[in-house]
Amino acid sequence: MLTLPVRWSPLFFSKLNPRFMIIGILKDVLPEKRVALLPEVVGMLTKMLVTVLVEKDAGATAFAFDADYENAGGKVVTKTEVITGSDLLIKVNPPSNAELGMLTEGKIFMAVLNPYFNADLVKTLAAKNITSFSLDVIPRTSRAQAMDILSSMATVAGYKAVLTAANSLPKFFPMFMTAAGTITPAKVLILGAGVAGLQAVATSRKLGAVVEVFDVRAAVKEEVVGLGGKFVEVEGAVDDKSAGGYAVEQSEEFKKKQAAAVHDHAVKSDVVICTAQIPGKQAPRLLMKATVEGMKPGSVIIDLAASTGGNCELTKNNETVTHQGVRIIGNSFFAVEMPSDASKMFGKNVLNFLKLMISQKGEFKLNWEDDIVKGTCVTHNKEIVHDRIKSVVNP
Ligand code: NAI
Repeated sequence: MLTLPVRWSPLFFSKLNPRFMIIGILKDVLPEKRVALLPEVVGMLTKMLVTVLVEKDAGATAFAFDADYENAGGKVVTKTEVITGSDLLIKVNPPSNAELGMLTEGKIFMAVLNPYFNADLVKTLAAKNITSFSLDVIPRTSRAQAMDILSSMATVAGYKAVLTAANSLPKFFPMFMTAAGTITPAKVLILGAGVAGLQAVATSRKLGAVVEVFDVRAAVKEEVVGLGGKFVEVEGAVDDKSAGGYAVEQSEEFKKKQAAAVHDHAVKSDVVICTAQIPGKQAPRLLMKATVEGMKPGSVIIDLAASTGGNCELTKNNETVTHQGVRIIGNSFFAVEMPSDASKMFGKNVLNFLKLMISQKGEFKLNWEDDIVKGTCVTHNKEIVHDRIKSVVNP
């Protein structure tokens, strides 16, 4: 009887029998340090009879090494071998131009494509007849929670934002009663109480700060209070239930009222963490230059909305600027700075998503009746198949 080396047998069978899938993990390049799938997920996929090709050094910056992938059942090869040999390719970030050039018709590509801001990429994927899935547009339904990459990365960002603020602040976060006198706790103001904002509330409270929060969605008040924060209400916010739990653009009158309220609270704060976003749009401007100038020198602003314009008027994306003694850190990519756990969460989300397409017996099927599969697909059969992305890319 012919026996095949264990590591090679799935690859051998997948060539014979198209039921078996070959998934390729591509290496993301610095400053990205995350990898789409860690070895533990590769192990789970191989148990589902999937063959996994891993680009050399793909996980090195997340402290997952080639030998770990081999031990988990993956096969470490070159980028070209990953792309030519895989049916489905996974990466954290969009494909590079070189990778795009190597993608041939019929391949499946999965990554955070940021499609609303990457129209040319979406058009190219459609023209090349690539079936693409953008992990950042997974519908925000209860069933999709275990696949929600945005939530996972926002959790990391909210946590890391607070630690960065604490590290940059010239004073303590907690209250201390010492022989040298009493230290009052730091005051943290959080703008936006989505996933990142709520994690920032929790982390700030654990460090002993006094926390205040603004959001336009009244629904979050209970969660903020439950975490030990104070919810500051501004009357007249548009809270559109049809927006699927997301915030919507506010009226000019509300914006003025809110800016005044934010000003009053920010000037008394030591730290402001900005997390307010409106999906697919520029971030709302909530913290004006005059407010920053009213804050105490030494205060810190962390703007997680920096990549979409920032909540603070003075934010510069990927830069730290100091204005009249107030440090403003514009960083929307804190997840990169915690690559091990960020990759762990990312990979588990991807695995849960893949389970909608791959059975425990390794059978692959794209089920277009599934709202999560359909709602995450950007291009298929040479078309942009996601209605909202299509309306933005081809207005
Ligand atoms: P996000 O990143 O889009 O926005 C962050 C926060 O900023 C939101 O709470 C938003 O209301 C707030 N905001 C926007 N404009 C503002 C303004 N002018 N002033 C003050 N705050 C403003 O939000 P994220 O974290 O993505 O979550 C949004 C919603 O999605 C939440 O309701 C959350 O519960 C829901 N969600 C559902 C999931 C699921 O069911 N799979 C997973 C994750 C989130």
